[in-house]
Amino acid sequence: MPRKKLIAANWKMYKTPDQTRDFFRDFLPLVSGHTRDEIVVCPPDIDLATAHGSAKGSNVAIGAQNVHWKPEGAFTGETSAAMLLALGITHVIVGHSERRQYFGETDDTVNMRLKAALEAGLTSICCVGEVLEERESGLTDDVLRRQCVRAFHTISAKKAAKLVVAYEPVWAIGTGKTATPELAAEAHAVIRREAAEVFGDEFASGLRILYGGSVKPENASSLMSQEEIDGALVGGASLDPKSFAAIVKY
Ligand code: PGA
Repeated sequence: MPRKKLIAANWKMYKTPDQTRDFFRDFLPLVSGHTRDEIVVCPPDIDLATAHGSAKGSNVAIGAQNVHWKPEGAFTGETSAAMLLALGITHVIVGHSERRQYFGETDDTVNMRLKAALEAGLTSICCVGEVLEERESGLTDDVLRRQCVRAFHTISAKKAAKLVVAYEPVWAIGTGKTATPELAAEAHAVIRREAAEVFGDEFASGLRILYGGSVKPENASSLMSQEEIDGALVGGASLDPKSFAAIVKY
């Protein structure tokens, strides 16, 4: 079975509810009837209700950018999977490199968040990727393997049914530098082999692995034409409806 590509927008800390409404007003007509790929937009939490309302009945799903591992409690600033589900949210990003870099996210907290998200039935986009020094020291494969093993720890293949992995080399995020399609495909193969070790071959062959890091309308089709690349996680270029639509329709 060919893997259906998933094209996801990661808005990071951009857009107010009004700007979210405007985005969907302009974006939805551009992608209406597009069924080849799964389309997801992940706005800041403050915009989730507006995004969900705006996208209702369309071919665009809404995701959050993070999720806590507990259902509720004294965890200031966090949002639980149950809360996302109550809003009709179906997808979530876990372990983005900006969370790891700036907010103390570790392999262990990524594992706890991922486990909770999958258990709640959210399609969970788990981000992995090496920083520049790691790549330059030849450590990329080791880093990817470690991040995967630790993120997947104690998750069964059955529980992982809605797992998606995003390979996001940190040196390519927001820098305008993109991994070449060949280099991304190599990293994806490492991740797929690791997923096979943990979850088995059959699971791994169905696992979607997205590429993220300066994906733009100009480079989307060469990246998406790689057999190993099952979609994209798009930051900067997803903020503009025309540019994100052009990526969706690569
Ligand atoms: P970028 O971000 O497309 O702006 O490089 C990608 C991401 O961080 O998910």
